[in-house]
Amino acid sequence: MTSPAGRGNRAVASERYLVGFDTRDLPRYSTDILVVGGGVAGLSAALAAAKSMNVLVLHKDVPALSNTSWAQGGIAAAVAPDDDPDAHADDTLRTGCGLCDTELVREIAAAAPTAVRQLADSGARFDRAADGATFALGREGGHGAARILHAGDTTGAECSRTLITRVREHARISEKENAYVIDLITADAGVGGTDMNGCVGALVQGPSGRYAVFARAVVLATGGAGQLFRETSNVPGATGDGIAAAYRAGVSLRDMEFVQFHPTTLYLAGVERVLVTEAVRGDGALLIDNHGDRFLKDVHPDAELAPRDIVSRALLAHLARPGVFGIFLDMRHWPKGHVAGRFPGLARTCAHYGLDPERDPIPVRPAAHYTIGGVRCDHDGATDLPGLFACGEAACSGLHGANRLASNSLLEGLVLGPRVGAAAARAAAVRGRFLGDVCAPAIGRRRGSADFADLRRSLISRMWRSAGVTRDAEDLGVTAAAIAEWRGFMGGVVLEDRSGFEVANLLLLGGLMVAAATAREESRGTHDRKDYPERDDARFLGSFCWRRGAPARFVGIDRTGGGADGILSRRATPKQHG
Ligand code: SIN
Repeated sequence: MTSPAGRGNRAVASERYLVGFDTRDLPRYSTDILVVGGGVAGLSAALAAAKSMNVLVLHKDVPALSNTSWAQGGIAAAVAPDDDPDAHADDTLRTGCGLCDTELVREIAAAAPTAVRQLADSGARFDRAADGATFALGREGGHGAARILHAGDTTGAECSRTLITRVREHARISEKENAYVIDLITADAGVGGTDMNGCVGALVQGPSGRYAVFARAVVLATGGAGQLFRETSNVPGATGDGIAAAYRAGVSLRDMEFVQFHPTTLYLAGVERVLVTEAVRGDGALLIDNHGDRFLKDVHPDAELAPRDIVSRALLAHLARPGVFGIFLDMRHWPKGHVAGRFPGLARTCAHYGLDPERDPIPVRPAAHYTIGGVRCDHDGATDLPGLFACGEAACSGLHGANRLASNSLLEGLVLGPRVGAAAARAAAVRGRFLGDVCAPAIGRRRGSADFADLRRSLISRMWRSAGVTRDAEDLGVTAAAIAEWRGFMGGVVLEDRSGFEVANLLLLGGLMVAAATAREESRGTHDRKDYPERDDARFLGSFCWRRGAPARFVGIDRTGGGADGILSRRATPKQHG
């Protein structure tokens, strides 16, 4: 394979810690396993780890404010008699455009039917078919069969409710809400009175001050960074804190250029974007423009149910045409009462804004939805830092490749979360307890103020324009320079609270995303380069990996003997310099 020689693949500099601290001066808590994040992946990991260990779960806000709780559509699983996990895996691999980890994809698709039945047995009220016994199954883009389990259009909230109930009943699990993880604490053997290496805990900002939590193993399940983009379907807290903290701790990230944009969020000026689930298109809703033209039928044979990247791009391209000023979801042909019955959340949202989907086409636009890249980990969630594991959207396991198949993310959390929790418990059993202290000097910052809200607005606007649905080298370059300048300025400011920490994390991850998007001089999956419109397997069949203080590394996929989108093994190509 020829090594890619993109211009963006340089190291992105960052300091080790966002703030100076000395654990001797801080309140200190200890647990066996620290789970950071209370979405489906974190809660599932906590329940598995608690079979043998004490677990503390930290929620950045409250469980209802996680991307899991906001997830609408559902969970993909081949449970229908005429469906088959291999077909689910094939759809996942096709959507992932050659970058999925085939073995993992097949494992997860095979485990899906049991995982969803177990969740239903523990109380999740998925919608049932008319017979009352079998699951009602929806269709979503990229799936060759109806295989989406759902609970109305609040499936994530139902998963969250079920898991949080079990977590709260568990004697070995405790939780803290409004606990913001500033950084992972790492130890070096021989320093600070310890012989341990790797991740030993986290520095946390709580409502009444800062504290340290020490743990034998840490599971990062902090979610993605959808808040990097002006248009997003994500919860306000989706600022990639865990991914950024892992990078500062020297952990490898990968696939940072891949961000999934959902084609349909409610688009009303001055109103927060709200996801309109793809399941409405699965149920036959049409996408039309202001002339009533169903333009997608000329774009892809599956029209509204084409993969999300194709629909999102087609929407924006169509909006750029003369005379087109709006795209709408049209449900007016549905039987009366269907919207309220099947999509009660959508019906409520529309009513709130004075829209009636039985009468009005609903205005929509694409928005950032899912961070495909993240913390590089193996099939058990192990990262390259001893004691640190990752799962869910914060992790990059290889399930999604270059594009995520709809409704595979709750599934990933449900299947891999328990596996990662069990692996963390095994690691904790042999790791022992950290009894030392960690002191990080205050880095060269001076007290001074910055308008973090203004900086954040500038960043997310630039990211949307240049690193959004379509990208090119020129715009990415302008954004890279702007981010470098903003980061330089932020480096001089003392960070005291969440608003500053979040902006620092967004700037770090924005820089990495832009560097990765620049380096990948091709179009593949969610990553669409106007200046490199073709997929280029000769140069880019593999992943860019990013580690603090090192140049980006391209890890190629060796397909020798593999199937069409098969991955048999990965091999590293030499380091690349821009
Ligand atoms: C949706 O409901 O459209 C989102 C489902 C997903 O992102 O998997």
